[in-house]
Amino acid sequence: MPRSVETAEVEGKKVLVRADLNVPLENGEVADDTRIRAAIPTLQLLLDRGATAVSVCSHLGRPKSEEDRAKYALAPVERRLREFLGDDRLSVLENTRFNAGETKNDPNFARELADGNDLYVNDAFGSAHRAHSSTEAVAHILPAYAGLLLLDELEHLGRLLGEVERPFVLVAGGAKVEDKLAVLEHLGGRADRVLIGGKMAEEVRDHNPLSYPVELPSDVVAASSFAENAEAEVAAVDSIPDGWLGLDIGPETAERYGAIVEEAKTIFWNGPMGVFEWSRFAAGTKAVAEAVARADAYSVVGGGDSVRAIQELGLADRVSWVSTGGGASLELLEGKELPGVAAIPEA
Ligand code: 3PG
Repeated sequence: MPRSVETAEVEGKKVLVRADLNVPLENGEVADDTRIRAAIPTLQLLLDRGATAVSVCSHLGRPKSEEDRAKYALAPVERRLREFLGDDRLSVLENTRFNAGETKNDPNFARELADGNDLYVNDAFGSAHRAHSSTEAVAHILPAYAGLLLLDELEHLGRLLGEVERPFVLVAGGAKVEDKLAVLEHLGGRADRVLIGGKMAEEVRDHNPLSYPVELPSDVVAASSFAENAEAEVAAVDSIPDGWLGLDIGPETAERYGAIVEEAKTIFWNGPMGVFEWSRFAAGTKAVAEAVARADAYSVVGGGDSVRAIQELGLADRVSWVSTGGGASLELLEGKELPGVAAIPEA
């Protein structure tokens, strides 16, 4: 494990903190403040322990040009953060990706960030798979420590890579199939059951890129087109009307998956079972979320959409860990080293 901020001498020091404040904005306001709230314990600890200044940096979105500056400014994020922490010693720097050096891991930009600070704390688990100036290069310039969220994420997700209580059930869904195949390969071989839903199910059924058996939907909620108000009906997977699309797992599959999940002792869930944003195609995701919540298991939910689903259903506090990492949690579970973590000295 990287060394913890709790072991740092903070009193009288100026601290640079890299958080992952890459949150969704809607109409210029923060639409989901989960990552902001998750960053608070480390900031609070630094303030409580007498840091004289705490400068927080983060990226926001993927700005490409000068014109993107207004859209990706961190001002709304800072406003929300200050609602939780109204301390004058706290400041929020501008979006790190406004500097072209950031994504190139440019040491010059890292020196700019480090300038005037005594310590560096990386609490940005969601960005730890990126070797960027604010996550990697800067850790070689200032004495570097891991923040509390980063450590919690490593511990909780790491548990899935060690000895787990069985049955270990992996539930995978969503649309970004290529992003998840490596995780399925790495973790799926260790799982007792692998349940596939969402768009991923079609890919696995058609090409079966995986080297072990998985559970696939037997029925779907089929829709005449990809539209919220499309004509829809439950169909067996081998009798989906021509040109129609499966937008959710069907009730038979939802029940079967729910029963398997409920019996599990360890669960990792990544990706919804259907287009849950549209209520007519949300039942499969809801059934899985409820089964995860009901199971007497060590349960981890990772990946933007399944995290959103479990939160919107009000079930987040009934799972063991909801990860703030999208790509970072997947890369960790693929068994990859995360550059943002590797740059911090070991405890
Ligand atoms: C995320 O949302 O997964 C992280 O903030 C990383 O963002 P990025 O994929 O733009 O680097």
